[in-house]
Amino acid sequence: MADTPELSGPDLEQGIPEGDLADGAMLGGHARGKPVLLARRGGEVFAVGAQCTHYGGPLAEGLFVGHTVRCPWHHACFDVRTGEATCAPALNPLARWTVARRDGKLVVTEEHEAPDGATPLGTPAAPEPAVRSIVVVGAGAAGEAAVEMLRRRGFDGTLTFVGADPSDPVDRPNLSKDYLAGNAPEEWIPLRDEAFYAAHRVDLVRGRRATSVDAAARAVVLDDGRRLTYDRLLIATGAEPVRLPLPGGDLPHVRYLRTLADSRAIIAAAEHAKRALVMGASFIGLEVAASLRTRGLEVHVVAPDARPLERVLGPEVGDWVRALHESHGVTFHLGRTATRVEPTRVALDDGATVDADLVVIGVGVRPALALAESAGAAIDKGVTVNEYLETTVPNVYAAGDIARYPDARTGERVRVEHWVVAERLGQTAARNMLGARERFADVPFFWSAHYDRVINYVGHAERWDAVEVNGDLAAGDATVAYRLGGRVLAVATVGRDRAALEADEAMARGDDAALERAIR
Ligand SMILES: Cc1cc2nc3c(=O)[nH]c(=O)nc-3n(C[C@H](O)[C@H](O)[C@H](O)COP(=O)(O)OP(=O)(O)OC[C@H]3O[C@@H](n4cnc5c(N)ncnc54)[C@H](O)[C@@H]3O)c2cc1C
Ligand code: FES
Repeated sequence: MADTPELSGPDLEQGIPEGDLADGAMLGGHARGKPVLLARRGGEVFAVGAQCTHYGGPLAEGLFVGHTVRCPWHHACFDVRTGEATCAPALNPLARWTVARRDGKLVVTEEHEAPDGATPLGTPAAPEPAVRSIVVVGAGAAGEAAVEMLRRRGFDGTLTFVGADPSDPVDRPNLSKDYLAGNAPEEWIPLRDEAFYAAHRVDLVRGRRATSVDAAARAVVLDDGRRLTYDRLLIATGAEPVRLPLPGGDLPHVRYLRTLADSRAIIAAAEHAKRALVMGASFIGLEVAASLRTRGLEVHVVAPDARPLERVLGPEVGDWVRALHESHGVTFHLGRTATRVEPTRVALDDGATVDADLVVIGVGVRPALALAESAGAAIDKGVTVNEYLETTVPNVYAAGDIARYPDARTGERVRVEHWVVAERLGQTAARNMLGARERFADVPFFWSAHYDRVINYVGHAERWDAVEVNGDLAAGDATVAYRLGGRVLAVATVGRDRAALEADEAMARGDDAALERAIR
């Protein structure tokens, strides 16, 4: 998805002195007009593509841990030995290059092009023989990542992928960002196309809703009456926007945003609208505000909170985000709620009215639990799953926004609404459906983009008693730590991708000293 990369660093076809690459070090260069990353671990030297296959992040600026290189932008992981994208959000592997040793130099020679993310690399794990048929319900982040991982790990049986949306699975985070702002072409949005599913024998059932699960018969029932039997079932039905029961809330210029169709409808409306009112100062609400400003609309944000994003990111970041949006011309009406929508204006609870010919409501989402409930799965503010992502119903797994899983760091059950977590839950569930018995232990991560600023967030802090800002938020260069009883539970960064990555690694290892270093 990135533009043609600018080449930097040494020409690796000419080679570099062996001594220039220390054990554990990475170096970015190029060969045959392509960016290439060299990495050394012990006596072995590896060369892979230097651009992340997610959005093209510069891997040389990431972290190299064991045999894994991690992308500084959204924390994807790649194994430098095989190129495999071992953890989302990247799905496709990196190309590998041959490295030769010549006259004391490391020289990059031949390129081995990468296959797609559903193709097994090396010897895939042998799937459990009892598993011949898998159904995945929910063609979103978790479902898509799961389907690909099933094939990548060598599952050869019947694979049915059911999605209520008429479109192929999409890059949902982009729907409120560059795509909505008009800076990303439509072809960036689908995660995969028809040919991909055909090549991997995935039966993608588009535009159909699974209505119930007959767990005793191990069958999923679709809204056209079809029954799909399974040996293993993954439920990944995601979340749905909370709808406000507002007078005038069903007028045609009132929009919600979850699907590609929703984003297209907002874009179509924005082409004729002059003033937009966004209800909700959530991540999605604010990203919509930024995108509509980029399109030149006047934008008002109405929210009951005292500050945007304060509940998740605290007052300091909230004030900064507000100032950032105001500097781009957004007008906030905080501490206010809308009471009525009319065709050309919205009434607020203080009696004021705001003119608006486009209204976007982003006041949170609710997990889509009905299907899991019909299976008889235990529900507690989400679908209860264990560390292997099994629900309480045999052979039924859950992943993504619906899953409430035990957080490896705190032991508390959490349910998070993050793209990367959803994909990784899907990937882990897939391996476990094939018999891996792998605990889900990833540190939660999300990002959010506002104009040219990106907030990265690692960890999970539902509450905290201290917020510590290091650096300068206004200058777009800061680390913010959220502590409870002195312990860092989560870290947000602006303009410090590397610190976010180091904090992620430190949390994953349970290394509190390294975590303290990362936030300085
Ligand atoms: C506009 C937008 C921007 C976002 N930006 C970010 C971001 O920047 N960073 C971040 O970390 N997160 C972001 N998120 C959140 C992220 O997209 C979600 O956490 C993630 O998509 C959850 O994945 P999922 O697979 O659980 O659900 P989804 O991706 O929502 O997929 C669930 C799918 O299941 C389908 N479905 C539901 N019920 C049924 C049924 N009964 N039968 C068949 N199909 C069904 C739905 O149609 C849907 O396609 C954003 C979300 C939105 C809407
Ligand atoms: S660009 Fe590398 S993870 Fe997104």
